[in-house]
Amino acid sequence: MKPEDLPKIVLVVGAGGREHALVQALKASPGRPTVLCAPGNAGIAGDAPCFPVKADDVPGLVELAKREHAAFVVVGPEVPLSLGLADRLREEGIPVYGPGADGARLEASKIFTKQILTKYRIPTAAAGIFSETTPALAYLKSRPAPIVVKADGLAAGKGVVVAASTAEAEAAIREMLDGGRFGAGGSQILIEDCLVGEETSILVVVSGRDYVILPTSQDHKRVGDGDTGPNTGGMGAYSPAEVVTPALHSEIERTIVKPSVDAIASEGISFCGTLFIGIMLTAEGPSVLEFNTRFGDPETQAVLPRLETDTLALLWAAARGGLGAVRLTVKPEHAICVVVAAKGYPDTYPKGDPIGLPADLPPGVAVLHAGTARDASGSLVTAGGRVLGVTATGATLREAAAKAYQACDAIACPSKYYRRDIGARQLNRS
Ligand code: AMP
Ligand code: GLY
Repeated sequence: MKPEDLPKIVLVVGAGGREHALVQALKASPGRPTVLCAPGNAGIAGDAPCFPVKADDVPGLVELAKREHAAFVVVGPEVPLSLGLADRLREEGIPVYGPGADGARLEASKIFTKQILTKYRIPTAAAGIFSETTPALAYLKSRPAPIVVKADGLAAGKGVVVAASTAEAEAAIREMLDGGRFGAGGSQILIEDCLVGEETSILVVVSGRDYVILPTSQDHKRVGDGDTGPNTGGMGAYSPAEVVTPALHSEIERTIVKPSVDAIASEGISFCGTLFIGIMLTAEGPSVLEFNTRFGDPETQAVLPRLETDTLALLWAAARGGLGAVRLTVKPEHAICVVVAAKGYPDTYPKGDPIGLPADLPPGVAVLHAGTARDASGSLVTAGGRVLGVTATGATLREAAAKAYQACDAIACPSKYYRRDIGARQLNRS
């Protein structure tokens, strides 16, 4: 695609590290677009004008896109997608990267996705679907532990309980169905067989039946070193995930990616956006854990720096047609993102702590912002659980990790906490 054919004003919706990575990648396009962000954060504001419209304020975002003459909108988080932001923008004639509410249901309802996976015989764990406690507990008794209990709806990553015992699963079932733990999102649940293996994140740029698979990555969901402690939004990621060998990659494309993209189209969903497939690599083969309908956070921070292909041209092709002609080129280097969180995350953590960033960063190292803000005096402070994402590229994962950790160590912040072992699984294998 010629640079002059690319949109000149691009609005990114969201406020996290993923959106900071998107803003930087879009700005680097040969199309030299003006990139705007809403609502953004203190770091994104250094790269793009930010507008104080929240990511779930659909009418406000549509108004902003019109007022600022955005020629293209790229939506980061799932909530505005499930609220129909992409539909509303398309009604206004504004091209958008991100599915409509019908496509976003693939993330917003785990039951909807399970039914599609089952209907089209795409590998996924066997599961029962329940809205009443008595049949749910009867089903539970018929399955061996460990077993997984999932709230149907969006629960910010907290609606999944991997229960080691039947008693723990029973408690989770009662909490969701009787206790109303996740509100309407938990009024229906899945009880799913537990899959064993290593996880990988496969991000797929989708436009109808056309798709481009982005480089593989692996997230680190638990808060503590050695995959201990509670689940989080993601504490770090690296790319490529070499556990996905070329043979496994072909198998994933043949048994999961292509059938999923085709299934979504066959269900009458006109999907344009990222289909993020969480996959468990089991001894019996790759199996789908979940669909998300947006870029992963922090996977995106480790994947986008590796693209040789222009990110804007890629997403624009998905939105405007022509994705089928895109051949992705990827840099051979490895990339890592280490999330610097506020100590206490994902439970309670302080806000407003000062952040001192290193003055100079070596080539290939970037500090992306997630939960940051400026205080009354203009100083940079913490404003969320995941505060920063330190990304680095290198000829090897080891080199990338060493560079990222050097920068993490150099960040001054009294409440900073980060895992020390991002990428260790792969490093220990090599
Ligand atoms: P989900 O939101 O469905 O991806 O679940 C969040 C996390 O829970 C996944 O990344 C897995 O680590 C774990 N998980 C979900 N489903 C299963 C399963 N069937 N077996 C084992 N672990 C699972
Ligand atoms: N890193 C997992 C997610 O974005 O849901």
